[in-house]
Amino acid sequence: MTTSNPYSVELLRWYDRHHRELPWRISPAAFRAGKRADPYHIWLSEVMLQQTTVQAVKPYFAKFLSLWPKVEDLAAAPSEDVMAAWAGLGYYARARNLKKCAEAVAREHGGIFPDSETGLKALPGIGDYTAAAVVAIAFNRQAAVMDGNVERVISRLFAIDAPLPGSKPLMKARVTELTPSDRPGDFAQAMMDLGATICTPKRPACALCPFNSHCLALADDEPERFPVKAPKKAKPVRVGAAFVAVTPDGEILLRRRIETGLLGGMTEVPTTGWTARIDGVTTPDHAPFPGDWQACGQIVHVFTHFELRLSVYRLQHGRMDVEGGGWWEPVSNLGAQALPTVMKKAIVQAIPLAFS
Ligand code: ADE
Repeated sequence: MTTSNPYSVELLRWYDRHHRELPWRISPAAFRAGKRADPYHIWLSEVMLQQTTVQAVKPYFAKFLSLWPKVEDLAAAPSEDVMAAWAGLGYYARARNLKKCAEAVAREHGGIFPDSETGLKALPGIGDYTAAAVVAIAFNRQAAVMDGNVERVISRLFAIDAPLPGSKPLMKARVTELTPSDRPGDFAQAMMDLGATICTPKRPACALCPFNSHCLALADDEPERFPVKAPKKAKPVRVGAAFVAVTPDGEILLRRRIETGLLGGMTEVPTTGWTARIDGVTTPDHAPFPGDWQACGQIVHVFTHFELRLSVYRLQHGRMDVEGGGWWEPVSNLGAQALPTVMKKAIVQAIPLAFS
């Protein structure tokens, strides 16, 4: 790593003029005036941004900070409230780890985030990416921050032909070499912004890119060929059934999933088993109680490791106690429940205006 280098100088000059204004970000001008990022904000935003777009994260980030302004507040919050506030962001293990991490920071570190990658990685749910991002952005220390955007930029800049994921260590070494000791936090954010706004997967805006005189992929006129990826294996398909029971008063039968495993602790309509370990059944004879269940079609939801096809059934029925637990919730209150997107899709299949 160097104090600065031609790449970092040009990138930071571009970032000064073209950075995105983001709610968790300290702009270069504010940084120069002495303002510093809050590590809690940076950690929270980085956890939310994994696998999720900036636009989708913004309202969740605002909601979390208004409910829990400090890491100690999040640590003290009931888990159900955290899961309900997270609902819709996906990858729910992140929310469970978020809560555990907040508890560890509050309990073991007096509410202060560690400022090293090693210290951060000892906390629940913090891996290489989040540790590097927090160290660079919140503490302005040199760290190689690698995400999909950065991989695209770096693989094009150096025309890296080795396919992902095997080429990750090589790409990380290149980013380490380019990361300056001067403004490493802005450098990391600039790489992400460049990947998100200029060096896009399709039709990159190379004419506007601060790296265009250095970019080896552009020199060969084929930036879109990078990053090279190993061929993907087709995802296995799982099937199951979801049962939407509604009372004449507009209440729907919900239950809570067990704490462990996929979507652990989240709310669902009754379903047959369908996780990667258990394949499901799709007929109404596996409903939570017998009745004239009406088929309403199928929804498809793609998880990281498999594709799920759920046959959805609907039944109008009086309120009753159901074996195996659950509760009846007014459909008008569904927005406040910790319902993951797959469950929202199933409910909308049976009650199209449920979330209107
Ligand atoms: N994507 C993930 N983290 C980001 C950040 N800090 N700035 C911009 N985009 C991001």
